[in-house]
Amino acid sequence: MRRIWTNARVITGLSDEVAPEDLEILTESGRILEVGANLPRDSAEVTDCGGALLTPGLVDCHTHLVHGGDRAFEWEMRLDGATYQEIAQAGGGIASTMRATRALSVDELVDTALPRLDHLLAEGVSTVEIKSGYGLEIEAELNMLRAARRLGQLRPVRVITSWLAAHALPPEYKGRGAEYIDDIAIPGLERAHEEGLADAVDGFCEGIAFSAAELEPLFARAAELGIPVKLHAEQLTHQGGTAFAAGHGALSVDHLEYATPADAAAMAAAGSVAVLLPGAYYMLREEQVPPVAAFRAAGVRMALATDCNPGTSPMTSLLMTMNMGATLYRLTVRECFAATTRHAAAALGLSGETGVITKGASADFALWNAESVAQIANRIGFNPLKARVFKGDFV
Ligand code: NIG
Ligand code: FE
Repeated sequence: MRRIWTNARVITGLSDEVAPEDLEILTESGRILEVGANLPRDSAEVTDCGGALLTPGLVDCHTHLVHGGDRAFEWEMRLDGATYQEIAQAGGGIASTMRATRALSVDELVDTALPRLDHLLAEGVSTVEIKSGYGLEIEAELNMLRAARRLGQLRPVRVITSWLAAHALPPEYKGRGAEYIDDIAIPGLERAHEEGLADAVDGFCEGIAFSAAELEPLFARAAELGIPVKLHAEQLTHQGGTAFAAGHGALSVDHLEYATPADAAAMAAAGSVAVLLPGAYYMLREEQVPPVAAFRAAGVRMALATDCNPGTSPMTSLLMTMNMGATLYRLTVRECFAATTRHAAAALGLSGETGVITKGASADFALWNAESVAQIANRIGFNPLKARVFKGDFV
């Protein structure tokens, strides 16, 4: 069915311009056929958007949405002075969520993740990336991504998965990072690939996790399988993960608080998107801001994501993330908008498919009771979403 979306103030997201335009959108079978003024009506059904602000559906390009358990008690420990690294070294942190996640079936993982997903969708999200990384053994990692795929069937949303077995060392591999990569991360990736579960490969390059040298064989195998890579890098310390990931043509490098101008140059050369995660920065009371000026100067595209996870970023609000990107990282409002639409799509290898309103893209829209993008991101804890359209249908 052909439909014309009319009486909307449209921000296409194709450029950094965020001034709304009076445009009509013609869609058919879930895709955008035409964008312009006064489109011919032909046989199309007309939908009046009531003067709403219409933007691309938002993209949350980095989440750990599927997981078991809760770590509010670790937050209390950090408030009492313990550091994230200390808690991790004492068997908490990612290992704590690992135990809770291993204990759940795929159905239970789906059930516990659904309310978090619904919260994201209620704020206009159309695409969400979901990582494994709390199973840390093959079957439990696969189950996380099976649950992620199931979520994409249960709700009108595009789910993109990442194989993050190289997130932390499970206790049974303590001190044996390279063996874990050989025994679990690589064979598990092959299984995930066979099952169609891995859209990308991710890792955590950090003192408390993996070195670039340990991750190298995993990224090499990903390349052989034709799977793109991305990396959590320079979050707590500078370990060189960014240069390593850029050297592998990473879709994105994520966190980046301790990245340098040289890292920004390497990312620019590789076309890697800088995925900034201010929720983790905020919850860890981190003081070092990612080198935003260096990313701008080098022409590195910046994205923002919730990093929704039970430890460092127990956040299911992409609107709050936009607000934090501006307030904590000093991104401009137009940068925050690109960061949750076009650039976030690029971080997932979805450029031109979603995150923009243009001919050929998926018809994923968010309609807002707002005059401007600034009004969408400005209020804290208030949701101005009026309606969401996914693949051409109101949802
Ligand atoms: O993106 N940085 C590593 N991984 C997650 C946090 C994991 C956890 O603490 O559960 C992150 O912040
Ligand atoms: Fe993360």
